[in-house]
Amino acid sequence: MIKGFSKLPAQQKLQIAAGKCHDPKAAALLFESFRHPDQEIQKILAGISENTISNYPLPYNVAPNFLINGKEYMVPMVTEESSVVAAAASAARFWHERGGFNATVSGTVKNGHVHFLYKGDSKQLERVMPDMRVFLRKYVWRITKKMEERGGGIRDMVLDDRTNIMPHYFQMHVTFETKDAMGANFINSCLEELSAGIKAFLSDTPGFNTQDLELLMAILSNYNEQCLAQVKVSCSVDALEQAAAGLSAGEFARRFILAVNIAEADVYRATTHNKGIMNGVDAVIIATGNDFRAIEAGAHAYASRTGQYRSLSTATLHNNTFTFSLEMPMTVGTTGGLTRLHPLAARSLEILGDPNAETLMKIAAAAGLANNFAAIRSLTTTGIQSGHMQMHLSNIILQLNASQQEATEIQSHFSTKKVSYQAVADYLRELRNN
Ligand code: MEV
Repeated sequence: MIKGFSKLPAQQKLQIAAGKCHDPKAAALLFESFRHPDQEIQKILAGISENTISNYPLPYNVAPNFLINGKEYMVPMVTEESSVVAAAASAARFWHERGGFNATVSGTVKNGHVHFLYKGDSKQLERVMPDMRVFLRKYVWRITKKMEERGGGIRDMVLDDRTNIMPHYFQMHVTFETKDAMGANFINSCLEELSAGIKAFLSDTPGFNTQDLELLMAILSNYNEQCLAQVKVSCSVDALEQAAAGLSAGEFARRFILAVNIAEADVYRATTHNKGIMNGVDAVIIATGNDFRAIEAGAHAYASRTGQYRSLSTATLHNNTFTFSLEMPMTVGTTGGLTRLHPLAARSLEILGDPNAETLMKIAAAAGLANNFAAIRSLTTTGIQSGHMQMHLSNIILQLNASQQEATEIQSHFSTKKVSYQAVADYLRELRNN
């Protein structure tokens, strides 16, 4: 047990952590080397989190040629998975030539709850709800004022009787509009104030005994079924030929739709299928300084809304038109939080043309659909391993410390061959022996 660790100077924390590595001296040097040379930037990064001893860089990538609602975007993607950006870029290019992505947002309302137990007469609670609503709006006005000026704020407050899942359990279900902010802090501050407001209201209302009230917690929900992005691509079946990898376009469409239908019905496949969507979504969410855990949690809850976990995307064929679409919750911000604080997140938003939250929802969803398209295309034609391993080849070359000339020869040799670490290592040995 280390007491007061967080109070120690950063260098001391680094030494303690490095001391746990096999070679503490080398590890300390390595951790130090990953600190940003610009003290100001390092201060920002350390300020974002706690007990920061170094930074953990991930590749910052861009996928060009995303045509979304007629506008072209270069999409920043932060990911460690080698094939994700290549897949997104190739799907973006493919669909650019076929009209691009059509994206919409069907709402930006976010949910939060005050969870409480009430042991008194619940009918009475319901009866005073209209007055309580008015009271609570005034009670939180100090917090909501600024957001209201920007067109946001509290949309509604509804008392939900949840005694079906637990005795005496109620929720004050509050809906929020946070405009271009993700709004987590705003929502949680409102909810905590509302929680105090509920108690204040009931203690001043005749017929209520606050002994009957137990406030449990006040917190936003990451399940936001009214904050949805929809994106779709479509073309005639014939226009799919270029993606069909040797199959006829019709056969490709048939196999593609079958694969998506399997993901709609089977949880094993649905999970991996949706992971492929999140490959694209998360990469954009991270690049723009948004909360990918929130998006992930919401997406998977939405995928389970029918009672079974299913694919978030659907593929159909009607009158010779192939349509591939995705609908998912997408709670993002383009102001506040990390979006402007993290220097690279701010640059990502600039690369995207400083989008508002709704536009960013559409862009992230398009990246998700692009990755999903690329994955299903590979899976139902060539399989994913050949593509993955080609992408992986450069990593293997790096690991084997091949020279520039050797790398070129390896790349050319394996352009038509199956890549594996062993095969590349053997080939390099052969090259060197010759
Ligand atoms: C790999 O990161 C993602 C895939 O497994 C997605 C899928 O199977 O649809 C290729």
